[in-house]
Amino acid sequence: MGTVHVLNHPLIQHKLAILRNKNTGVKEFRELIGEISALMCYEATRNLPTEEVQIETPVATATVHVLSGKKLAIVPVLRAGLGMVDTMIDLIPSAKVGHIGLYRDPETHKPVEYYCKLPDDIANRQVYVVDPMLATGGSAVAAIDFLKDHGCRNIILMNVIGCPEGIQAVQEAHPDVEMYLAAVDERLNEHAYIIPGLGDAGDRIFGTK
Ligand code: PRP
Ligand code: URA
Repeated sequence: MGTVHVLNHPLIQHKLAILRNKNTGVKEFRELIGEISALMCYEATRNLPTEEVQIETPVATATVHVLSGKKLAIVPVLRAGLGMVDTMIDLIPSAKVGHIGLYRDPETHKPVEYYCKLPDDIANRQVYVVDPMLATGGSAVAAIDFLKDHGCRNIILMNVIGCPEGIQAVQEAHPDVEMYLAAVDERLNEHAYIIPGLGDAGDRIFGTK
């Protein structure tokens, strides 16, 4: 079973506290999503392989470590996942970016696909699927299904807030996928919203409500 990492770092927790607050406005919300994503990215890339190389500093030869192994790709689940991309690319400038467009049907809560575009060489990359919210898990499972259909075998899922139902759904459908979350909340309500959560992540990032 893929390990589930819950990142209870004080900086992440503090930023999450502001993010959750209903009085936090669009600008600050968007900035916080970015900052939390960068901190999560730092943890989620901790086990990337490195190799030793020799370089010349101005005064001596040094043995240093550089990234080796698979190149990386970041795949946001639209819309809200877009809020996590920019700060991750700041840290990993050579990463390619794919997009998977899904929205939850308001009645059934099932994901509906409306757009997908992936880098041609996605199957050879270490893929980070990013989405602030993991509620029923339907969107994450569908996004990972799609990536696997395109040959991806190395997939890590990053969500800011999840809940037990969503984690279970991903683990059952994709037991090979490692997960990183900043918080695991209590439960879903009758509308499949995370409680206490932060409301609708897409609306809060883009100011659509
Ligand atoms: C939200 C969120 C996830 C999904 C999570 O997106 O960003 O993609 O819901 O719910 P699930 O785990 O039950 O599938 P939404 O469908 O609201 O679309 P949006 O980002 O375009 O607003
Ligand atoms: N999508 C969101 O944006 N928030 C939730 O709580 C659940 C799904």
